[in-house]
Amino acid sequence: MFIENALQGSPATTTAGRFRELWDEIAPIGRDARTGGYLRYAFGEPERQLREWFRQQAERRGMPVSDDGNGNLFARWGDPEAGDAVLTGSHFDSVPHGGAYDGPLGIVSAFLAVDELRAAGVTPARPVVVGAFVEEEGARFGVPCLGSRLLTGALTPERAAGLRDADGVSFAEALGDRPAGARPDLVAGFAAFVELHVEQGRAMVDRDASVGVATAIWPHGRWRFDVTGEGNHAGTTRMADRRDPMLTYAFTVLAANKEARLRGAHATVGRVRVEPNATNAIPARVTGWLDARAAEESTLAELVEAVRAKAAERARRDGTEIALTEESATPLVGFDADLGRRLAALLDAPTLPTAAGHDAGVLAGHVPTAMLFVRNPTGVSHSPAESATDADCAAGVTALARVLAELTSR
Ligand code: GLV
Ligand code: MN
Ligand code: MN
Ligand code: MN
Repeated sequence: MFIENALQGSPATTTAGRFRELWDEIAPIGRDARTGGYLRYAFGEPERQLREWFRQQAERRGMPVSDDGNGNLFARWGDPEAGDAVLTGSHFDSVPHGGAYDGPLGIVSAFLAVDELRAAGVTPARPVVVGAFVEEEGARFGVPCLGSRLLTGALTPERAAGLRDADGVSFAEALGDRPAGARPDLVAGFAAFVELHVEQGRAMVDRDASVGVATAIWPHGRWRFDVTGEGNHAGTTRMADRRDPMLTYAFTVLAANKEARLRGAHATVGRVRVEPNATNAIPARVTGWLDARAAEESTLAELVEAVRAKAAERARRDGTEIALTEESATPLVGFDADLGRRLAALLDAPTLPTAAGHDAGVLAGHVPTAMLFVRNPTGVSHSPAESATDADCAAGVTALARVLAELTSR
């Protein structure tokens, strides 16, 4: 009886079966039929449905839900007086046409890990809190890990409130309130944070392991470059008379690629806005967004400086103007080394660094933090081709349950 209740009356007899049941509940939400990718943006309709699903899952399990005034949700299992909680979870939001697993896997796995512990008769000596962070991808308001940055005070509520999406809606309007900002009271109540996430490369495939433990996150950031020229007629403007920002833009993209390769770093321009965006008009303005990452902070700084210098020189030749503005920056994150070693030994799992950003990277500056990665056979992420097998997801749930049992044992 206890076990049946603990497993939410699920008829599935295996962890993989229970994973599939719960996964299928959210799989259609925000899925684009054309690409098979997900459009789940902070406070958009699909994300609202996922938040509602979160509340229902918590309620089914008798876990009270609270929010932090910034849009982040927390569901607690266990006596709040028993001590600082172990936080686990991830995010629901996606990049445009993103994969199914990036984010939601960590939340679904967290609820299933709680079920496994209950079924095993575990009474945690400290609470387990399942968290869902808002706007991790920065796909709507431009700043990644917005929810966790607000919670920890890495971003002021004033700056966050004024961030606007492509339609001009501000974060405060979407939230329905002014963000609460730093909540040191909540952060101090977390003894540890463990975020489970799909791996976003092929390192786990190469290591032939279903679950791994992250050691670090590369420093990374986003820079917007605004190139202004002169909008004019594509047919009648002599080539010598043009001030075409598209040329400066194109050169900047190639320069970023070259400078990154020279340094073993990563540079991407995955978003561009052209004004007026007409086939027969020389653009007046082109805005691109540079995503740059490197293993060392000094390498990242050099890379961005090199791109800035090359782009400025090219703008002089093109008769355009270019301005490079930092939109977000995340320094090198080293996860708690003791915790990482302990979990890798407990799970007999390989360790690996990553170049992807996560809320765990933000929390790591305040709370002992670790990440578990689940193997991704395609190695692809931020794309509909992102993948994970049910067997590996089940291994992730079991690993997370073991980790939570270990961290809540006293
Ligand atoms: C977040 O997913 C990032 O690293 O871009
Ligand atoms: Mn992502
Ligand atoms: Mn993610
Ligand atoms: Mn991420």
